[in-house]
Amino acid sequence: MIDLRDARLVGKGSSRFCYVHPEDDSKCIKVYTRSRSAAPRELKYYRLYERRRISWEMMARNYGTVQTSEGKGWVFGLVRDFDGGISKTLGHCLQTEETTPDAEALLRVMEVFRDYLVRERIIVWELKADNLLYQRSSQDAGKIVLVDGVGNNEFLPIANYSNIFAKRTLSRKWRKFLHHLWRGYSHNPVVREVVTRLDS
Ligand SMILES: Nc1ncnc2c1ncn2[C@@H]1O[C@H](COP(=O)(O)OP(=O)(O)OP(=O)(O)O)[C@@H](O)[C@H]1O
Ligand SMILES: [Mg+2]
Repeated sequence: MIDLRDARLVGKGSSRFCYVHPEDDSKCIKVYTRSRSAAPRELKYYRLYERRRISWEMMARNYGTVQTSEGKGWVFGLVRDFDGGISKTLGHCLQTEETTPDAEALLRVMEVFRDYLVRERIIVWELKADNLLYQRSSQDAGKIVLVDGVGNNEFLPIANYSNIFAKRTLSRKWRKFLHHLWRGYSHNPVVREVVTRLDS
């Protein structure tokens, strides 16, 4: 059993706490804020992607579950920058122009991430800036890494079986993501420019 009482809290969403794994600082452990016995809906997708041997370069990998002092925990790769610091969310970076990559770089990073999702046929529930990390590989380069929101919330999850439907689902989720960025971050001129260019 892993004791999380002194573990470092990385972040908190609406349903989970994310801690640095006390025994392996390349991993994190997520526990539910309220006790919940069912496995998270996305676990079967992580297993599917393991079987399909996808590339994990832009998605945090799942390493199964552990028992913790806070109940059942789900272990994931912890995303870190080149300097060892824990990567910040895209939402955090886009908050101000100073913390945002320049427009050309951000456009490129967004396109590379979209191409990755299409190429690996990753089905997402929802793309949100707080569920994506911006992992810096140097002072001025980086990539987006998906840490939450994997899975299918459609009534008939046909996209799981069909390439064409997977593409359609993704392009719908991508449009919603661009709207979400506009709603939340269009005070930032770089975001305005990049979303406009991606939307055309
Ligand atoms: N693999 C990771 N590496 C580094 N930080 C992470 C990782 N996974 C999550 N985080 C941080 O922890 C926060 C909460 O994690 P997560 O998004 O999984 O929780 P959640 O409650 O499911 O979120 P939501 O409110 O979107 O449902 C994230 O917003 C991010 O800041
Ligand atoms: Mg989240």
